[in-house]
Amino acid sequence: MKVNGTPYRSIWYDHDAAEVRIIDQRWLPHDFRIAPLKSRADFTTAIYEMWVRGAPLIGVTAAYGVAGDMARDPSDANLDAAWEALNATRPTAINLRWALDRCRAHLAPLAPADRAAAAMQLAHDMADEDVEINRRIGQNGLAIIRDIAARKPAGEPVRLLTHCNAGWLATVDWGTATSPMFQAAEAGIDIHVWVDETRPRNQGALTAWELNSHGVSHAYVTDNAGGHLMQHGLVDMVITGTDRTTAQGDVCNKIGTYLKALAAHDNNVPFYVALPSPTIDWTLRDGVAQIPIEERNPREVSHVQGVGSDGTIAEVQVTPQGSDVGNPAFDVTPARLVTGLITERGVSPASADGLAAMFPEHASRV
Ligand code: MRU
Repeated sequence: MKVNGTPYRSIWYDHDAAEVRIIDQRWLPHDFRIAPLKSRADFTTAIYEMWVRGAPLIGVTAAYGVAGDMARDPSDANLDAAWEALNATRPTAINLRWALDRCRAHLAPLAPADRAAAAMQLAHDMADEDVEINRRIGQNGLAIIRDIAARKPAGEPVRLLTHCNAGWLATVDWGTATSPMFQAAEAGIDIHVWVDETRPRNQGALTAWELNSHGVSHAYVTDNAGGHLMQHGLVDMVITGTDRTTAQGDVCNKIGTYLKALAAHDNNVPFYVALPSPTIDWTLRDGVAQIPIEERNPREVSHVQGVGSDGTIAEVQVTPQGSDVGNPAFDVTPARLVTGLITERGVSPASADGLAAMFPEHASRV
């Protein structure tokens, strides 16, 4: 997508500098900064510290991390060490392990001398595939938005609500939940997006920055506002992303998503999840029982971060000294609360049968 008129992806390989570059998301929405990633520590830190974040993007970042490792030392032992180090960065988004497993399965049979080039090519391919998957999710989601628009009184926008940032910054490009929004706006459909703040890390500010940059009407609201907006008929459709969805359609996403799904259910608001196929964990069924939920640093909750007037990241404590703090980063929305899963192949019911019909090549693993 474009930033000040220049097209960007969230991660790319700079051929002149011969290095991987990312948009360093810690500084957004205040400052647009680019950072190089070179060493293995650069890649693991960037994922763990959330310079890059969002399930699809951390998968592709890990693939570039493996490529860097293979350029330095293409041995079997180093391939395994890179897999372990990168996989240990974040536990919930399945795209990370999916990407690492794919790299290892592709590279292990090759002679070590061939691995560096093959790993880099695979990372490029995975980046391009992510862009195409998200473009297609956008097309399939656009059809739903178009249907809703056709039923609205003239002059009223389709009002969408989203949680966290499942935008182009969370993927290589387009985003998952935002792709239908960008494509609807491009198609001239009048939309308005309620953007949940998404404490503690305020990823909603990234979504607002994206929508703002592309002239899409939106309002940034507190995490607790969604139920009220739905009760008053101000939300036509919820679209969120996901970090891991099980074979029976249970959706793990940023903490607070479940509460939005409950409110949507109570108010008959359709609740859709934009789901790229690499985010499906075909080995799991019961998401509440089986998906590991990342517990992050309590400081993310006890302190609020922003960029200070001197251009550095500043923190202010909001909790009393001595209070314990919990910081589960994700929750699971059971399939029964999900109206549909917007995948690159079409919209699937959130059920084992629905997903197996959409992706028959995986059905035997369920
Ligand atoms: O902790 P984050 O910022 O990596 O969490 C991101 C989300 O929960 C997104 O909604 C999800 O990854 C989908 S991104 C297309």
